[in-house]
Amino acid sequence: MIHAYAAREPGAKLEPFEYDPGELMPVEVEIDVEYCGICHSDLSMLDNEWGMTSYPFVPGHEVVGRVAGVGSQVKNLQMGDLVGLGWHAAYCNDCAVCRSGDQNLCAGATGTIVGHHGGFADKVRAEADAVIRLPEGLDVESAGPLFCGGITVFNPLVQYDVQPTDRVAVIGIGGLGHLALQFLNAWGCEVTAFTSHASKREEALRMGAHHTVNSRSAEEIAAAAGSFDLILSTVNVKLDWNLYLQTLKPKGRLHFVGATLEPLDVGAFGLISAQRSISGSPVGSPGTMVTMLDFAVRHGIRPVIETFRFDQVTDALKHLREGQAKYRIVLAH
Ligand SMILES: NC(=O)c1ccc[n+]([C@@H]2O[C@H](COP(=O)([O-])OP(=O)(O)OC[C@H]3O[C@@H](n4cnc5c(N)ncnc54)[C@H](OP(=O)(O)O)[C@@H]3O)[C@@H](O)[C@H]2O)c1
Ligand SMILES: [Zn+2]
Ligand SMILES: [Zn+2]
Repeated sequence: MIHAYAAREPGAKLEPFEYDPGELMPVEVEIDVEYCGICHSDLSMLDNEWGMTSYPFVPGHEVVGRVAGVGSQVKNLQMGDLVGLGWHAAYCNDCAVCRSGDQNLCAGATGTIVGHHGGFADKVRAEADAVIRLPEGLDVESAGPLFCGGITVFNPLVQYDVQPTDRVAVIGIGGLGHLALQFLNAWGCEVTAFTSHASKREEALRMGAHHTVNSRSAEEIAAAAGSFDLILSTVNVKLDWNLYLQTLKPKGRLHFVGATLEPLDVGAFGLISAQRSISGSPVGSPGTMVTMLDFAVRHGIRPVIETFRFDQVTDALKHLREGQAKYRIVLAH
C-alpha cells in the first residue's frame, strides 16, 4: 500500500489516504519519496480551478526520491538512483511531438496529479522516461522545485533562443519567479523583477535581478516603456496586460507560464505597431530538464526553500495560499 495525503473534495483539507497501486508496469519505476515541493498548481488542482481534478486527490509534482522498484523493461534507471519527477508521469512516446523531443506538448501525456496520485506520499509511480536522475553536485533537499517551477521558467530561454544581450523581465517573484531571476542572471541577461511585495525587492536583487519594479504601479510600469525583449509572467492573476505590452521593445514577447484564469484583454495595435508577440508554454521536455539541471549545478542555482514535514501539509498549504512562501515550500519526512 502507498501512504499518501489526499483531499476528498474541492478545497478540502488533506487527510491520510492509503491506496494499492497494483502491479508495477514494465515501463514504470516506483520512487521512495524523500522531498516534494509545493507548486501553486497543486493548490489550483486541489480547488479544481481548472476543472480536471479527480478525487481523492493526491497533490505533489516536484518529487525527489530514490528508485525503489524497477519495471522489467526499464533501461535508464536502477534501484537506489536519486531521481526527480515533475508535472508529467508518462508520455505517449509515439506521437509526432514526442518523437521530435517535445514530450511536454504531448496530448497523450499523463500528469503526475491529473487522474494519477502524486508525490505527497511515501511512494509515487511514474514511467521511467518521465523520471530524471539527479546529477552530481545538485543539493538534494532543495532540488524538487526544479522539476516543475524551475523547468517551466528555464524552458522559454531554450525555446526562444534568449540571448545574453537580452533584457528580460519576470512578473511575480514566487516559486517560479525566484528561479527565473537566477536562471536569467546566469544566462547573462539584464534582469528586471516585477513584484507586488515591497519586501521582496531587496531579495530579488540578491537572487539575480538588476532592477525591480512594483508590478501593480501603473506609473512605475509606464516608466519602463520599450525596455524588454522578453517578459515572463508567472502570476496567476489579471494585470494590465496592455500596459505590460508597452514595456516590450519592438519584436518583444510577453510569455505566459502563470495560469491566469481571466481571458487576456489585449489590444491588437499594441502588438501590430511594434511586431510584438504573446505566447505560453507548459513545463519542458525531459531533454530540457537534463540541460537545466546541468546548468543549475554549473551556476550554483538553487531553489530558496522553506521546509515543512509531510504531516504539516495543511499548514504548508495555508502558508502558500496566503502568499507567504519564500520562495518555495518543500515537504520532507
Ligand atoms: N506553465 C506551466 O507549466 C506552469 C508550471 C508551474 C506553475 N504554473 C503556474 O504558474 C503560476 C505561478 O506558480 P508559483 O508556484 O510560482 O506560484 P506562487 O509561488 O504563488 O507565486 C505566484 C506569484 O504571483 C504574484 N502574485 C500573486 N497574486 C498577485 C496579485 N494579486 N497581484 C500581483 N502579483 C501577484 C506573487 O509575486 P509577488 O509577491 O512578487 O508579487 C506570487 O509570489 C501558477 O498559476 C501556477 O499554476 C505553470
Ligand atoms: Zn507545478
Ligand atoms: Zn506523445
